[in-house]
Amino acid sequence: MTARAPVNIAVIKYWGKKDKKLKLPINDSISATLNLDDMCTTTTVHISPNFNQDKLFLNGKEQEIQLDSPVKIMLDDIRSLSTLDRKVLEQKALITSINNFPTAAGLASSAAGYACLAYALGSAYGIFDRAILSRVARKGSGSACRSVYGGFVQWVKGNDHETSLARQITDHKHWPEMRVVICIVNEKQKDVSSSLGMSQSVDTSSLIDYRAKVVVPERVKVMEKAILEKDFETFAELTMKDSNQFHAICLDTYPPIFYLNDTSRLIIRICSLINQYYKRLVVAYTFDAGPNACIFTLDEYASRIVTILRDVFPLFDEKNESISELPVRGSFEETTNDAHDNNLVEFLKSSGVLPRPNLLSYIISTSIGDGPSLTSMHLSV
Ligand code: DP6
Repeated sequence: MTARAPVNIAVIKYWGKKDKKLKLPINDSISATLNLDDMCTTTTVHISPNFNQDKLFLNGKEQEIQLDSPVKIMLDDIRSLSTLDRKVLEQKALITSINNFPTAAGLASSAAGYACLAYALGSAYGIFDRAILSRVARKGSGSACRSVYGGFVQWVKGNDHETSLARQITDHKHWPEMRVVICIVNEKQKDVSSSLGMSQSVDTSSLIDYRAKVVVPERVKVMEKAILEKDFETFAELTMKDSNQFHAICLDTYPPIFYLNDTSRLIIRICSLINQYYKRLVVAYTFDAGPNACIFTLDEYASRIVTILRDVFPLFDEKNESISELPVRGSFEETTNDAHDNNLVEFLKSSGVLPRPNLLSYIISTSIGDGPSLTSMHLSV
């Protein structure tokens, strides 16, 4: 069985666990699932009587499956839930998985990865109920429980393993005008993993409790309403405020955690200036546990936003002393005639935003997408 699963980007962030083993969060979260064709994990699960142990290959490299590892826990879970013949359940599995985007760069790779594993294992062992798969995916990585659905998704924190799972708010067809522009900052792996970071925040931040108990419950209600009503301005304001608050909690962690860098902060400034220029909110940034920006906008502004980003972040080849354009990947590569808004360019320049070469490595231009699905393209080792 081979499955593909999407990345999701939280607009109300999950940060903090009350149970590390079960990955039960201290607050609800809401995310948007991105288009599978642009960013996804593909995982093949092959079960055979010829294998003498479970094996895992990630992006071509064999990984040891340790006893208490998320993969082992998920395998055990799925096997114990399966009603297939005991002989099949005794057979070992070969799991092969690849990502088509940078791993561990704060880009929700673990969400797509564990959701894909849950879905592929579920298909191999005859479990198709998404609520069950969401719980299994959660044990891999908390945010993965949201990637088993498309569209906009809420992870209800719950009290225990049974009640902590995701539910779909609305599917990917609900808001087709929504575009997502991801800026890949020219940097490699992040320093502090999400798991470690959130554990340090729970232990040391005096603000995190207030966020979980007071701020998030209210935001979740307002965000769900904004999504259902396709109210971009409310969606945008809350998305940016929630990203800011998550990074404020990181700063309130002792010692502090810095996921944003100067490039991230420049992108925040550009988004704020764009919104100021249009006198309403047309873009919303959000950042996870890394410096890469995820910008939500609407289709009528998307090509202008991409053009601005390409103007500000050109590539410069020092050897040949030549400037080239930042590559744009994803399903919305096209730029339309009205892509250049000269007045906006002038406004940004007069606000001190000048071209800054080589800070980004590329842009992914995508949309809201559907949940995991099976594919006939099997991976081999
Ligand atoms: C900032 O789901 O990666 O992206 O449950 O420890 O595996 P673990 O953490 P993970 O954390 C994601 C944190 C976040 C916010 C979010 O996606 O909600």
